[in-house]
Order: sequence, then C-alpha cells, then structure tokens
Amino acid sequence: MSKFMEWVDARFPATKMWEDHLSKYYAPKNFNFFYFFGSLALLALVNQIVTGVWLTMSYTPSAEEAFASVEYIMRDVEYGWILRYLHSTGASAFFVVVYLHMFRGLLYGSYQKPRELVWIFGMLIYLMLMAEAFMGYLLPWGQMSYWGAQVIISLFGAIPVIGDDLTQWIRGDYLISGITLNRFFALHVVALPIVILGLVVLHILALHEVGSNNPDGVDIKKKKDENGIPLDGIAFHPYYTVKDIVGVVVFLFIFCFVVFFFPEMGGYFLEKPNFEAANPFKTPEHIAPVWYFTPYYAILRAVPDKLLGVIAMGAAIAVLFVLPWLDRSPVKSMRYKGWMSKVWLLIFCVSFVILGVLGVLSPTPGRTLLSQVCTFLYFAYFILMPFYTRLEKTKPVPERVTG
Ligand code: HEM
Repeated sequence: MSKFMEWVDARFPATKMWEDHLSKYYAPKNFNFFYFFGSLALLALVNQIVTGVWLTMSYTPSAEEAFASVEYIMRDVEYGWILRYLHSTGASAFFVVVYLHMFRGLLYGSYQKPRELVWIFGMLIYLMLMAEAFMGYLLPWGQMSYWGAQVIISLFGAIPVIGDDLTQWIRGDYLISGITLNRFFALHVVALPIVILGLVVLHILALHEVGSNNPDGVDIKKKKDENGIPLDGIAFHPYYTVKDIVGVVVFLFIFCFVVFFFPEMGGYFLEKPNFEAANPFKTPEHIAPVWYFTPYYAILRAVPDKLLGVIAMGAAIAVLFVLPWLDRSPVKSMRYKGWMSKVWLLIFCVSFVILGVLGVLSPTPGRTLLSQVCTFLYFAYFILMPFYTRLEKTKPVPERVTG
C-alpha cells in the first residue's frame, strides 16, 4: 500500500490533500450542535445528486409527458416512489439544514474577518440553491409547478423598459410552455448542480485557508504548542469525522421517518394542487411557493407597489451578502456580544419565521400589516447593526476556548 501511495504521491498530491484537509486540519475542540450542519449540508447535496440522477433515468421533460412520467416513477418504476420522496423531502431537508447552518454563522459571527469569503461563497450557494429548487419544482408539471413559476417569472415584468422582453426571454415563449420546462430541466439537472458543487469546493477551500471559527469566537491559531499545533485544536480526522457520523445517524433517522410516514408533510413539502396536472386555463385558488421561499414571498407582498416589492425581496437577500461589513463588533460570538445584538438577532429570527408563516397564508388586511411590521424589523436588524454592534458593551473574550 505504501509503495502504491508513493507512486501516486509522486504524480498527484493525494496524501498532502488528505493531511491538509483531514488528518492535519486542526479544528477547534469546542464545536457544538450547530457545527453538525456543514457536513449534513454535504450529505443533503449528495442525496439530491444521487436520487436526481436516478429520477432522470425515468422522467420525461416534455409538457405532454412530464406529469405522467412522475406518476409512472411513483407507481411502476421499481423503488421509484422512494427515489422521488428522498429527492422531494431531501429538498426541504436541505433548506432546514442550510438555514440552521446560516443561523450558526449569525450566532457566532462566523462571517466576520477573516471569514468574509467563506460567507460570500455560502451566500452564492444559497442563491444557486434557491434557483435550483425553483426550477426543480416546475418539473413535475403540476398545477402549483405551473402557476408558481408563472407568478415568479412574471415578477420580472415589473422591471421598467426591459421587463416584458425579459420574462419572454426567461420563458422562451409567450407563456410557460414545454420550452420553459425543457430549459429548466437542463439547468436543474446539469448547469446548476455543477455550479453548486464548484461553489461548495470554494467554500471549503476558503474555510480551510483561515480555519474554522467556534462558539467562543476565539482564534485558536494564536496559542500553539512547540510543534505548531493549536493548543485548542484537534485533528478533523478522526475526531470530527467520527463525531459527524453521530450527526448523520440522527439526521437520517429523522429524515427517513419523514420520507416513510409524512413525505407530503401536510402539503408543505409536496403541495396539494401539484397532484393535479398543469392546466394553463385554470388558476388554483391559492398560489403559495414552497415553505423555504415564503419569507421572501411575504416581503414581496408586504409592499403595495409591484416593482418596489420585487426590489424589497431582492434587497432582503442582497443585504445578507454585506453582513460581514455591517457587524462592527470587536467580538465574534454572541456569548460575548452585548444585549442589543442578542435582542436584535432574536427579533430578526422571529420576524423571519412569522414572514415564512404569512407567506403560506392568503393575505388579509391584518396579515398584510403584520408582514409590513416584520419586513421593517427584518431590514432594521441589518441597517442598525453598524450602530448597535459599536455602541454596546461587550464581555471580555477568554484567551482559550471554554468548551
Ligand atoms: C450546499 C450548501 C453548503 C455546504 C455543503 C456547506 C458546507 C460547509 C462545511 C462542511 C463547513 C465546515 C463545517 C461547519 O463549520 O459546519 C462550512 C462552514 C461554514 N459555512 Fe457552509 N455550507 C453550505 C452552505 C452555506 C451557506 C448558505 C452559508 C451562509 C450564507 C454558509 C456559511 C458558512 C460559514 C460562515 C462557515 C464557517 C463556520 C465557522 O467556522 O464557524 N454555508 N460549510
């Protein structure tokens, strides 16, 4: 074996890569629950790719046959039903994991210097993931696939001057048709997965360049032993590979429970109108995107003007990109930040969840008012951040991690 590895290493940096990223990558020893979600996001990504490849083997991307081919997968293809449920539940699980992964970033200031690029690559992944999920949702060609895409694509029509041409260019037709389905299929199964995979590699390379943050926000590279190994660091392999397996087992237990017993999740993972084939002549009574988009959908609807609504929705995502430059706190972790940061993070999370719930429901005057209040608080969290993070009194950060 060692002779073989010598041969390989003389031609390809296999051992070097193994050491740099696993056996000699020293991660802080105080990782907690929230640090499971990076490896779980990787697992979710692999699950989507593997089940997606197998679904593609039996799916037909045409307006005439798409809906029937999904039914064929569910009823006739051997194990087709499980492949589809792993993929549809997998999409929702992916977003649950990614939202918790992002929340960890907010909690421990993981986006702060020197991890700005880790955060930016993460945000690009998030953006591409939303595009991937949106395009994937058109493929079963159900009523919600069709009308959901119709609502979102028509938003581009609000852009002055180029709006109408732009929507037509995206659809490739005067209305959503088999042409739209074909291009969404190409982007969903080939282009975007490649982009996402590439971004994940960049995300991890950037992280390993600077090293992981931790719940204390202490820089473990400042205190090293005589061999140059951080005193508060442990080798990623075997310590965190083994720990991450525990996370994987627990995740799979919950995930399989949903796949086997609640794959539709009461209409939240697979919406009820999507069990009916797309019908361009019949608008469903109530159109709502899948749950992971609903906070932004609620922001869109909170603004009475269509164009301003689209701008607000775009800004809600764009502002996350500049987060590393809005936080002026001298400390990273919420453990040592002042009460204002804590209260604002709580306000932000509660507003995000309320917006998510409102985005599923049909609007009433009361709900619209509530979504306006929550939209205001959502943006206030970011806009006020440079002020409250500088003004508040922080606690002293310990020299070493506290566990
Ligand atoms: C396909 C999606 C993603 C995958 C596979 C992924 C993977 C990972 C992995 C394996 C880690 C190291 C382990 C950990 O710290 O949990 C990590 C760290 C990190 N990720 Fe992601 N990630 C994804 C999406 C995102 C998104 C959407 C964001 C935020 C916008 C993000 C922000 C971060 C940050 C800031 C860190 C460093 C955390 C720290 O050191 O405290 N990631 N990611």
